[in-house]
Amino acid sequence: MTGSIVMESGPAGQTRAHGGGKYYRRFGPIERVMHAFLMLTFIGCALTGVPLLFADHEWAATLVTLLGGFKGAALIHRICATIMIIVFVGHVLRVFTRAFLAKDWLAYFWGPYSLVPNLKDVQDIIAMFKWFFGKGQRPEFDRYTYWEKFDYWAVFWGMFIIGGSGLILWFPVFFSEFLPGWIFNVATIVHGEEALLAVGFIFTVHFFNGHLRPEKFPMDLVIFTGRLPEHELKDERQVEYARLVSDGRLAAIEASAPTSGERTSAYLLGSVGLVLGIITILLIVYSALT
Ligand code: HEM
Repeated sequence: MTGSIVMESGPAGQTRAHGGGKYYRRFGPIERVMHAFLMLTFIGCALTGVPLLFADHEWAATLVTLLGGFKGAALIHRICATIMIIVFVGHVLRVFTRAFLAKDWLAYFWGPYSLVPNLKDVQDIIAMFKWFFGKGQRPEFDRYTYWEKFDYWAVFWGMFIIGGSGLILWFPVFFSEFLPGWIFNVATIVHGEEALLAVGFIFTVHFFNGHLRPEKFPMDLVIFTGRLPEHELKDERQVEYARLVSDGRLAAIEASAPTSGERTSAYLLGSVGLVLGIITILLIVYSALT
């Protein structure tokens, strides 16, 4: 989330539990809780919405029955949607409040701790593609890589489309007071198609980036524990690491290593998301093929 560096320091000396290395704080409790809610509510909306798109398939009927029938599924969809919108609005308010309180709001949006794309991201994309083909060095990244920014903005704009169309479907009487009738047909199509796009993107590309690529397999726990090991900060976010060292701020973000309990909870939460997401994708692909 934009400008989300967290300078909470952890108790030094407790940093050698897993793999013997130091740990540094990357995300604070608010970001972690918001991500958990976003993740769970997105899965809730996907599981209760996608069966409507494939209503002629047996699995869709079974899934809806498991979720309490059409009434139960519709209720879960609305509860998840409401929490998701609250989290999104809360995030946007938080970003603008922090920008307003920042000494230099321009630096807040354009600085290295922002998720706003900049020229370095374009250079990194070009360098990364050269590296894919063995034509250059892998680029050195800052706080957020270009694909993390892409993931963030995909969800950000998706919220307006999926949330806006969802609210129109939810409150047709209210919206019909000032919107033409054809909007409801458009909202139905847009909501379903955007849902498929979002589900397709999150449950493949986002999962791959976060969990399934070789460096992260089986799971990157940082968004759940808030902490990452020193070698990851050094090797994957070289520009941020160098800045933290040169500014003398590295020690301030040193944190305790996640305990076994924290790691187990993180694996559990991540696995629930991963398994449900992959099952949803497999069902969509199966339905599209049959
Ligand atoms: C964020 C706010 C959202 C709101 C307010 C919302 C609301 C709605 C409503 C009112 C419906 C009509 C079906 C019913 O009565 O149960 C619906 C359908 C649906 N929703 Fe959502 N939803 C939201 C988010 C999502 C998300 C995140 C997904 C997928 C990940 C999703 C996927 C679907 C699908 C696939 C349908 C069926 C569309 C169709 O029948 O063509 N929704 N939604």
